Amino acid sequence: MSKKLFIKTYGCQMNVYDYDRMVDILAPLGYSLSDKVEGADMVILNTCHIREKAEEKVYSDLGRIKPFKQKKLAQDENMFIAVAGCVGQAEGAEIMRRAPYVDIVLGPQTYHRLPEMIAQAERAKGRPTQPGRGILDVDFPAEPKFDSLPKIQAGANPAAFLSIQEGCDKFCTFCVVPYTRGAEYSRPVATILEEARQLAEMGTKELHLLGQNVSAYHGQAPSGSGEWGLGSLLRELAEIQGVERLRYTTSHPRDMDDELLSAHRDLPQLMPYLHLPIQSGSDRILEAMNRKHSSEQYRQVVADLQKVRPDLVMSSDFIVGFPGETDQNFEDTLQLVRDINYAQAYSFKYSPRPGTPGATMINQVPEEVKVERLAQLQTLLNKQQLEFNQSTVGQTMEVLLEKPAKQPGQYLGRSPYMQSVIVKATPRLLGKIIQAKVTYAGANSVQGEIITDETELALSA
Ligand code: SAH
Ligand code: SF4
Ligand code: F3S
Repeated sequence: MSKKLFIKTYGCQMNVYDYDRMVDILAPLGYSLSDKVEGADMVILNTCHIREKAEEKVYSDLGRIKPFKQKKLAQDENMFIAVAGCVGQAEGAEIMRRAPYVDIVLGPQTYHRLPEMIAQAERAKGRPTQPGRGILDVDFPAEPKFDSLPKIQAGANPAAFLSIQEGCDKFCTFCVVPYTRGAEYSRPVATILEEARQLAEMGTKELHLLGQNVSAYHGQAPSGSGEWGLGSLLRELAEIQGVERLRYTTSHPRDMDDELLSAHRDLPQLMPYLHLPIQSGSDRILEAMNRKHSSEQYRQVVADLQKVRPDLVMSSDFIVGFPGETDQNFEDTLQLVRDINYAQAYSFKYSPRPGTPGATMINQVPEEVKVERLAQLQTLLNKQQLEFNQSTVGQTMEVLLEKPAKQPGQYLGRSPYMQSVIVKATPRLLGKIIQAKVTYAGANSVQGEIITDETELALSA
């Protein structure tokens, strides 16, 4: 009998990738996705620990799920509740203590063992009413999970994520990722190519390579000896029949090398949009963050990239109110933003994370200062994003149509610059790359009209 599986994913794109893999792992056990917690046989919260707010959400969601589990228990049925992802990794025992009705806690590196954990939970009749009765599996495995994942099924969308790396060794002083995802590991090239070919065969046109530091990728070469960097990997992926677009996230300014630069120059498939986080425009703060690069080096990397790929537009992440950030340091960030001129960017208030060096720094910035700086930075970034979108009005660009939009008859796609593009289309065009002329620009999306010749499309179908 088919069992119902509800998964909620928080956090970064790596968690989205992991979500699809968990669906693949649980399918042979008879679980299929449901969009409701009520009545589900298994509920997984795939969590994020990056900022305090993300973590708090997990506990409030657990509180909301509990009555649904109680209802099932009252009917002599069960609902397994699992907390996966980075909060599971960082706070496993704490979750078990605070929410003893949670059956299973696992981390981003252990979800391939879910079937064993479920079997164990079933033996325990799935009723861990006492703290410590639940199943906790957060030990980093000796063998990376990638080797034990089933053949890819879920997530073969027109644009699909492909994880090429796990973990991080950079230890920025604000960040939990090295603790929640463990040491950096690059998947061997051969297994990535195999997954990419599977996705392409299932109709994926755009591959979005994922890792916390993909520019530091160094996977085993297909020959078995030596290693390849990201640039070589991208070149090989571009050769795969059906792969028309390539993107990668996230990269670190410190290891953008010549090989990667030349990939941007030579590969038309590599899209002209790059998310390259800098966090702060102040060298003093960058040093305190242990980023190991200056704002000048970042500017140089961007200039070098735009020299070889003049249409490349930039995106970044920023943190305001890192300990010790002065008004002048913050002004340096604003100046950097004015100079680079971003097409899009994310910005956050610094959130002290337990166990990271930043959390115990003595010169924490008051909340109201953080709020004020974030508002100022976001006003500037939003203005730049709108201006970028407006600059594309009248342009004709290729748009990969990914899914239906909210309004009937409208579809949502992505431009090469990662803009959300809304067009009127027919279902037949889903998953296809069409030519669209941008007619209107909003802050978060643009609208376009399809100008692709229908006969041309019929021939290419
Ligand atoms: N690996 C990526 C980023 C991973 S986390 C990189 O090196 O850039 C995603 C973003 O969350 C970071 O770029 C940072 O801007 C933000 N972030 C991470 N830790 C944070 C914290 N403690 N407080 C606020 N924002 C944080
Ligand atoms: Fe976190 Fe820094 Fe690693 Fe990015 S590079 S994941 S910000 S420690
Ligand atoms: Fe969050 Fe973990 Fe990603 S902490 S941002 S889900 S790596």
